[in-house]
Amino acid sequence: MLNENFTKADIVARYLPKKLIAAGQAEAFAPSNIALCKYWGKRQSELNLPVNSSLSISLAHLGTRTQIHPSQTGEDQVMLNGQLLPVESPFARKVVSFVGLFRRDQSYPVIIDTRNNIPTAAGLASSASGFAALTLAINQYFQLQFPDTVLSAFARMGSGSASRSIYSGFVEWRMGLQEDGMDSHAFPLDVNWPDLRVGLVKVSTAVKAVDSRSGMKRTVETASLYQSWPAQAAQDLEKIHQALSDGSFSELGAVAEHNAMSMHATMIASWPPLLYWQPDSVAAMQKIWALREAGVEVYFTMDAGPNLKLLFQEKNQALLETEFPGLEVVAPFEASESGASTTVKEPS
Ligand code: DP6
Repeated sequence: MLNENFTKADIVARYLPKKLIAAGQAEAFAPSNIALCKYWGKRQSELNLPVNSSLSISLAHLGTRTQIHPSQTGEDQVMLNGQLLPVESPFARKVVSFVGLFRRDQSYPVIIDTRNNIPTAAGLASSASGFAALTLAINQYFQLQFPDTVLSAFARMGSGSASRSIYSGFVEWRMGLQEDGMDSHAFPLDVNWPDLRVGLVKVSTAVKAVDSRSGMKRTVETASLYQSWPAQAAQDLEKIHQALSDGSFSELGAVAEHNAMSMHATMIASWPPLLYWQPDSVAAMQKIWALREAGVEVYFTMDAGPNLKLLFQEKNQALLETEFPGLEVVAPFEASESGASTTVKEPS
């Protein structure tokens, strides 16, 4: 019987072949994603099983590229953005232990070389693309050929939001009901909005004091306001589906902003309080509200950090680039390299 003591390793083991066969090297890319209906709170923490379903937009070419090579030294090595990390660093340990879920006791020392083109741990969801790219690279390296839904569920075990980074475009992560969580995975929505733009307002790229994992735990444990969150999230998800089927950008933006502010309200109602905003975050919010008053359709969402992600349409891009100098604009449905991808090289 599965229960809280059921481990990730037990679950992954059910899907693995007896003997792994390593490819010569593998490389995978996964996009970062921004939730429009947020994942906030877990019903089971070992497997990152969420309290609510969520929905995101993937960030096309912004994300993580991860390569896996055999290590000639006999030891695992982890590189982040071109730098070899000490084996004992928290990042290297997390990565090696995730690979260990698949490698089990078979000796395949590897070099994991991972590069983000978004700031690591700055509230721009690099753990999502990081675990998704790692899962895809492992799938290639050990020639596992898991279907996307299984890859999404495995990526979720690394970080919940990583389940959504397996796909591009609009992505929904259904919370699922099974105790082993294998029905808690994401899937892509068949909706194309070529004129949608996401703008990244970088208030601060410093590593945040309280990461999302501890932040959501604190919220669930201490904020009485959190009790209203699951129902609101379910309702917002419905409204976003409606907005997508109506093609209503205004509805999509309004629901996403309201959902983000509601999540932040539960954070603020935690003890000790969690306020991820900085004065510049609030100034940016006020500017957005003033622009909307003046008839410019722009909305924002925010995660567990001070940065804002603007939602707008292509027709307003030039104006918003002037209003927010340094705005990094992503076209989630642009044709060029977008979405998760993998390449694999046979052993020579
Ligand atoms: C606010 O996926 O980083 O960005 O599952 O503990 O790794 P863990 O948490 P994580 O939380 C993301 C929270 C969020 C909302 C979202 O992306 O849905």
